[in-house]
Amino acid sequence: EKLSLKGNFDGDEELLHSLPKQKGWGAYDLLLFQNFWIAPFYLKATITFLKHFQAKQNDIIVVSLPKSGTTWLKALAFATAKRNRFIPISQNDDHPLLHSNPHSLVPFLEMIDFYGNDPNNISFPHLSTLSEPRVFGTHMPFPLLPHSIHNSNCKIIYICRNPFDAFISLWHFKNNILSSQPLLPALTLEEAFEKYIEGTFDYGPFWSHMLGYWKASKDTPNKVLFLKYDELKANTNFEVKRMAQFLDCPFTEEEESGGVIDSIIELCSFGKMKGLEVNKSGKSVLKVDVGNKHFFRKGETGDWVNYFSPCMTEKLSKIIEENLGSSLYFE
Ligand code: A3P
Repeated sequence: EKLSLKGNFDGDEELLHSLPKQKGWGAYDLLLFQNFWIAPFYLKATITFLKHFQAKQNDIIVVSLPKSGTTWLKALAFATAKRNRFIPISQNDDHPLLHSNPHSLVPFLEMIDFYGNDPNNISFPHLSTLSEPRVFGTHMPFPLLPHSIHNSNCKIIYICRNPFDAFISLWHFKNNILSSQPLLPALTLEEAFEKYIEGTFDYGPFWSHMLGYWKASKDTPNKVLFLKYDELKANTNFEVKRMAQFLDCPFTEEEESGGVIDSIIELCSFGKMKGLEVNKSGKSVLKVDVGNKHFFRKGETGDWVNYFSPCMTEKLSKIIEENLGSSLYFE
């Protein structure tokens, strides 16, 4: 299914102009909307989605901050939830994940062409015909999710990455995109770091974003599953089983002994995905023109030590401790 973003907006233009503004990391400014920094074009879509999106009871929503393992989790959730339709065994050349980037199969809510062909009819007709369970992605903070996601039985899976690695990943990603736009100078590590620790980047501050979902996962554990990239890396089998259980489609003993879990993990592994032609030379259906290869850099935990000075380490540790305290990375 072809998805595009037209930038239409069913909202209040004046509101947009009244919001606090800061220079972003690249070509566009960021707007502060309900305490989160959001790009104007995504904010428009977010507001429209907030008002109109109708979640189905069995929808699955994959949520993250950028560069937290979104691509990986989208692939794992898609392969797990749709394993009866698309068998993930390694000989199956037909599996969609072998031919499409996860961002094409699991579209971001805020990037979908939400009007279809009729600008007066915001009913998302093409979304209601997607095969079930529908799997969507979003970077939206918890309070900005559409009402029907909050109020239906649909499931939310959040992936959180340690801010040290997430920052380094974001810095590389942004600079890779900027390097394809020669008029925009790359951000130095120091410039980017100052913005990151102030919380000024798309969907930042990171601590509010993480805490919103962390609390929701504690309050409503059947609704929100909170995963950590680092734990998913360290114990993929255990975490994938936990995810399937949460999605009410636990793996059976036969599936486990028949290698279904291992096949899903292999299909979605960094090495496998990075090597696929579609991820080497394809482009994703995002608003900005991004080659799929930029979603696969190193895929490791701990790469930050190669970039951080002692002073940066101290600053970020302090911010994490002050804002996340014992709840997340110090538990
Ligand atoms: P690095 O830049 O540290 O390598 P997102 O998907 O949210 O944009 O996050 C991108 C990060 O996840 C990148 O981190 C990327 O390499 C890593 N990544 C992508 N696919 C992965 C996979 N299948 N397994 C593990 N990490 C993956």
